[in-house]
Amino acid sequence: MECGKAVSGVVYGLGVGPGDPELITMKALRLLRSVPVIAYPIQDDGTSLARAIVESHIVAGTIEVPIHTPMGERGAAEPGYEQAAVEMMRHLEAGRDVGVLCEGDPLFYGSFMYLLGRLAERHRVEVVPGVCSLTACPAVLGLPLAGRNDVLTVLPGPLPDDRLRRGLAGADTTAILKVGRHLPRIRALLDELGLTGRAHYVERATQAGQKVLPLAAVDTARATYFSMILVYREGHLA
Ligand SMILES: C[S@@+](CC[C@H](N)C(=O)[O-])C[C@H]1O[C@@H](n2cnc3c(N)ncnc32)[C@H](O)[C@@H]1O
Repeated sequence: MECGKAVSGVVYGLGVGPGDPELITMKALRLLRSVPVIAYPIQDDGTSLARAIVESHIVAGTIEVPIHTPMGERGAAEPGYEQAAVEMMRHLEAGRDVGVLCEGDPLFYGSFMYLLGRLAERHRVEVVPGVCSLTACPAVLGLPLAGRNDVLTVLPGPLPDDRLRRGLAGADTTAILKVGRHLPRIRALLDELGLTGRAHYVERATQAGQKVLPLAAVDTARATYFSMILVYREGHLA
């Protein structure tokens, strides 16, 4: 994104990868170690996956801006982004660069987009892409994601059944994200479509606690937000 903006610090959206601290790019690591301010989302319990991934690389004395992003109702995280954006702008206007730590890739279903909208009008923003879950999950599964002229479809699990059904119908490979509490419903839908046997479940890819299972073997009563289901069309790839 190009400048032409008032002289200020730069916002860097830093993709820190899916969990394994070695899956960060050299560019993101260099910037993380050079910026005076970092910001990152934190959950209700005060933990931050993005921060935890790069913890060993954070330079002593770096100013930290936690962004409160409670799960739940749409819009629940808005005040957290608003407050963090105001704090970040204070640093930017004082000429300090700010690195925003983003799990996976900043712009692949990443919350960085909410800051981008708030900051890009007045400040220079640069995005450093990261290894995202869409590539990490097939890697730990050991199966191709897509090839040749395959249609790859990405579906957020919270979508209603008819949207999921339509997406699955047109795809060679389907990645279902944000599985969490929707797991029993998604499993029932895949059962109905005769696809459960073609589906793989990946939880916390590349993180401690990683699980890779055929979907049929997963206990649907215990669902984790950081999980993805990969479904392969009959006779295809898997
Ligand atoms: C809000 S999206 C963020 C995606 C992230 N920006 C990325 O680039 O992968 C969160 C969803 O991504 C998927 N996800 C992220 N990291 C994952 C991981 N390490 N293992 C499995 N799924 C993951 C899950 O489906 C999770 O519900």
